[in-house]
Amino acid sequence: MATSIAAKHAKGKFAADAIMAAAARCTEDIEKNGAAAVINGTVGSMMNENGDLVVLQVVKDTFAALTPEQIVAYAPIPGFQEFLDAAIDQCFGASRPDGFIRAIATPGGSGAIHTAVHNYSDPGDEVLTTDWYWGAYRNIARDDNRILREFELLTEDGTFNFQSFEKNVTELVAKQYNTVIILNSPANNPTGYGLSLEEWDRVLDFLKQAVAGKDKNIILVSDVAYLDYSGEKEECRQFFKKFGNLPANIMPIVAYTCSKSFTLYGQRLGAMICVTPEEAIADEFMAINKYTARATWSNANSSAMWTMIEITKDPDKVARLDQERAMYFQMIKERADIFMEEAAACGLKILPYISGFFITIPVTHADKICDILEQEHVYLVPLKKGIRLAVCSVSKQKITGLAAKVKKAIDAAGIVQ
Ligand SMILES: Cc1ncc(COP(=O)(O)O)c(C=O)c1O
Repeated sequence: MATSIAAKHAKGKFAADAIMAAAARCTEDIEKNGAAAVINGTVGSMMNENGDLVVLQVVKDTFAALTPEQIVAYAPIPGFQEFLDAAIDQCFGASRPDGFIRAIATPGGSGAIHTAVHNYSDPGDEVLTTDWYWGAYRNIARDDNRILREFELLTEDGTFNFQSFEKNVTELVAKQYNTVIILNSPANNPTGYGLSLEEWDRVLDFLKQAVAGKDKNIILVSDVAYLDYSGEKEECRQFFKKFGNLPANIMPIVAYTCSKSFTLYGQRLGAMICVTPEEAIADEFMAINKYTARATWSNANSSAMWTMIEITKDPDKVARLDQERAMYFQMIKERADIFMEEAAACGLKILPYISGFFITIPVTHADKICDILEQEHVYLVPLKKGIRLAVCSVSKQKITGLAAKVKKAIDAAGIVQ
């Protein structure tokens, strides 16, 4: 009997998700032993100090006040214009780059990244990202018959690895018409690293040089999923200004999402936002990405768009939004500070964390170490080259003492970091 009838490109695909698998084991443990006994460091959404999912209060209030029509009506294919204007404004803040800026509503940052890859690379192309990356990038590339290629994000001393970046970009530009590069900064998932303004300058200068005078293009997908919890509101956005005045064959596309910024994760709303000096390229961006929207999800979630519109048109609500985000940024920072201080004290190495939802402990045999930790009711996510801890979801009380537990498990597994 036939065991597969899938098309050739789909055969053998399955989403083995280490995060979901660890989360499922954790849920089982909680059911058996109670939440107090278990540390769940797998969840990539913010949990408050009581372990409950954070929904920003201003979002809760605004969502609850929507009319049935706002909730159920179809939206235009590219999204409501008020939403697109608000998304551009919320994304860039005071650091709006110069140039033609256009946006299309997408189902979260995922939809934005997928569509950028789909419309700016060809089947068989390699798409470049960092070796520490959010696992879904690989699914997005492979599902679209592209190949994900990694460069090393960090040097030995924990700064951006220009050598690896430049080598990989040079090779890709030599062999492809378009090179799509996905950079998740600030607050990289899973490391918490972010490029400094000087590092951004050097990255962009190199990209200019790499395609100068060539019929080649670079599409820089700037994944800013954790932007609103990465630092002071305007300071963490300063790098966006550098996306203006680039040559026309380098186009930043910002993958903006309301998942974390508005705690609207499951409502599936984001935007892809382009910056280009050429109006024709901006028009093409709208045309081709609207086409893909129509061909896939059609139109984005009206209720999430209206929630965003209603908040951003009211200065009092914006002030509440900013204040709540700042409070939760502080909550995550305090947790990360505890972990980093204790890690330093017990000799546990971690990757350079600046901000964001995750801290990574670089190790080999992460699976083995995570198994040992799970016996202690501690659930973290094993990655290829490390272990990911979600500081967004572990309370200060539970994070206290955790570094020593991880160190002990690494020693017990006989691993030297
Ligand atoms: C690095 C990164 N980019 C993008 C996303 C996109 O999420 P969403 O599609 O919910 O906006 C996530 C979510 O976990 C992420 O970790």
